[in-house]
Amino acid sequence: MQDEPLDILKGVSAGTDPWRPLVDRFGRKHTYLRLSLTDRCNFRCRYCMPLHGVEWKPRNEVLSLEECVRLSWIFVKLGVQKIRLTGGEPSVRKGLVGLIRELRALEGLGPLLMTTNGSTLASQAHAYRAAGLTGLNISLDSLQPDRFVEVTRGGDLQKVLAGIDAALDAGYDSVKVNVVAMAGVNDVELVDFVQFGIDKGVHVRFIEFMPFLGNEWTKAGVLPYREMIRLIETQFKLRPLEIDKSAVAKEFQVEGTRASIGFVTSVTDDFCGGCNRIRLTAEGQIKTCLFLKAGTSLRDMMRQGSSDDELAEAIHVALQTKWAGHPAMDQWVGHDDKAMVQIGG
Ligand SMILES: C[S@@+](CC[C@H](N)C(=O)[O-])C[C@H]1O[C@@H](n2cnc3c(N)ncnc32)[C@H](O)[C@@H]1O
Repeated sequence: MQDEPLDILKGVSAGTDPWRPLVDRFGRKHTYLRLSLTDRCNFRCRYCMPLHGVEWKPRNEVLSLEECVRLSWIFVKLGVQKIRLTGGEPSVRKGLVGLIRELRALEGLGPLLMTTNGSTLASQAHAYRAAGLTGLNISLDSLQPDRFVEVTRGGDLQKVLAGIDAALDAGYDSVKVNVVAMAGVNDVELVDFVQFGIDKGVHVRFIEFMPFLGNEWTKAGVLPYREMIRLIETQFKLRPLEIDKSAVAKEFQVEGTRASIGFVTSVTDDFCGGCNRIRLTAEGQIKTCLFLKAGTSLRDMMRQGSSDDELAEAIHVALQTKWAGHPAMDQWVGHDDKAMVQIGG
């Protein structure tokens, strides 16, 4: 299903400035890098990690911290303004605080964010903040201890809740809670999550359940965002907020409160037209869309001695394989070659 690099691209790089902005075939400018620091995770969430786990990459196949910094520098020089650290679970990566500090020093970088399961935040949220991390998205799929254990296959809800408190205390520019909403699993908790957001003063985002290798996705398991809104509006009134065209989430104010919530609608109403995101897997492969196979290995290029100019040009060429939009999810199922935990969400 993946587009092959187009013939017209052969030679496109000759004589052009490798440091031009990252614009794809459809005129979309790319200013947002999602950098996976590891394919390892200390949770085994059923929508993300296959039941029998995944084979973790040997450490030498994963980008070193120095390689992460070099590639981030290149991306920032190419116009990336925002970097999100992800995984796997980025907080299990050794040397994370030092990496944050080095990335923070990149001239031209704005928000430096991390998506995490929250398991280390109770002890680390202040250290990450002091090193220069500006925002956190924390995954939390149930407020019920038993269901939390079931969804994460062993996670500790109390630890994550303490982590959210620590994150709120540490003074980040933004702290959001990500909830993967699944029909028949946590749909009964949407109202509780909105109340949690109001009580804690935290932005809650509900994500439609997407198919990835080994995550037992079915169409019936998807809770479309319109249905989520219907369920939430049994208790709260929602007012749509204006959003930027590259925004991932549809945002709503919870009327009569200071809280806002969002919906990430990749399944029922994609937002590909405004996509400004590019991903790097933990092994250093470029992924231009969550639903396209990982391509060029920047790790191999670096280890074979490529120059910064050559790496920058390779990123441009890879970007030109990005499609206008991904197919409908029920047509996509079965085409994925990696579990979400291996991609870096
Ligand atoms: C792959 S995780 C990696 C970061 C971190 N370990 C965490 O738990 O947030 C990044 C994000 O992807 C989301 N995610 C993973 N699998 C998903 C799926 N099948 N559908 C929708 N979102 C998914 C997670 O909820 C999380 O917010």
